[in-house]
Amino acid sequence: MQLGMIGLGRMGGNMVKRLIQGGHEVVAYDRSPDAVKELTQPRVEGAASIPDLVNALHAPRVIWMMVPAGDATEQTLETLLSLLSPGDIIIDGGNSNFRDSMRRAKLCQVQQVEFIDSGTSGGIWGLANGYCLMVGGSNEAVKHCESIFKTLAPPDGYLHTGPAGSGHFVKMVHNGIEYGLLQAYGEGFEILKESQFSLDLPAIAELWNHGSVVRSWLLELLEQAYHQNPDLHNIRGYVEDSGEGRWTVQEAIAENVPAPVITASLFARFSSRQDESYSAKVIAALRNAFGGHAIKPE
Ligand SMILES: NC(=O)c1ccc[n+]([C@@H]2O[C@H](COP(=O)([O-])OP(=O)(O)OC[C@H]3O[C@@H](n4cnc5c(N)ncnc54)[C@H](OP(=O)(O)O)[C@@H]3O)[C@@H](O)[C@H]2O)c1
Repeated sequence: MQLGMIGLGRMGGNMVKRLIQGGHEVVAYDRSPDAVKELTQPRVEGAASIPDLVNALHAPRVIWMMVPAGDATEQTLETLLSLLSPGDIIIDGGNSNFRDSMRRAKLCQVQQVEFIDSGTSGGIWGLANGYCLMVGGSNEAVKHCESIFKTLAPPDGYLHTGPAGSGHFVKMVHNGIEYGLLQAYGEGFEILKESQFSLDLPAIAELWNHGSVVRSWLLELLEQAYHQNPDLHNIRGYVEDSGEGRWTVQEAIAENVPAPVITASLFARFSSRQDESYSAKVIAALRNAFGGHAIKPE
């Protein structure tokens, strides 16, 4: 089928390639004209603007947004809503907050435009391996777009999770789990590294991928990273977060769900960005004050 793709970055660009490999036709737009030019080929029509993209699509139009969550998604949606007609479908494949998606679905409903939130996992490997899709929206809209989801996903790799908002909710929790998994691997490998045994960490990562209960795709990626760069040379221990971890913790609090691992892994990312811990300074000052414990000068 034909669809429009807005945002041709690491995700959107590869998704266009996978879609055309699956026989679909894409009208593609990015605010950077070079990104559009790079993808333009027989089954990909480049658009110079969002109005151009909308004009090039047949009704009912299906438009996939693959831009950063927050302002970029909000502005793109607003522009689309000023151009689309009843029956058209907007899919947000980015990592938007599910509450924003529920609000946006209502906004679309006013104009009888369908809104689908498709939580998308798979990163830069999705082109080759397929993207795992967690899809929220009405039955009719999701059914209409099913061939797109089937092409983007590996076999059995897409699920209609419920109404609009549910796709991004499931993706949020998915990413919260990812925070905990990454933290556990990071801590385990640091304990191995600091041990008295001079352990071969690349060999252990590889070993554990052969039949152990902690084998996983993430551990395979660590094995590859170690093989390319055994000392993780030139990689600073500084970890960003893009929102989903903190939203998962907020939802856990709202639902009275104890989520100590995900919460601690979020806070560990905050710690990774500090050159100095102010809270540890306070603790050192207090220990000195009440017990005369030595202070290490700066
Ligand atoms: N990378 C991943 O592993 C991954 C996995 C799952 C989901 N996601 C989600 O997928 C979405 C896209 O991620 P990505 O990794 O493809 O990001 P990316 O490589 O940074 O690409 C983002 C795209 O959005 C465009 N863009 C940025 N700001 C914009 C704005 N204000 N208005 C219009 N377009 C704008 C960029 O245009 P320019 O080229 O001009 O900058 C670029 O085409 C995000 O929501 C992300 O959270 C990413």
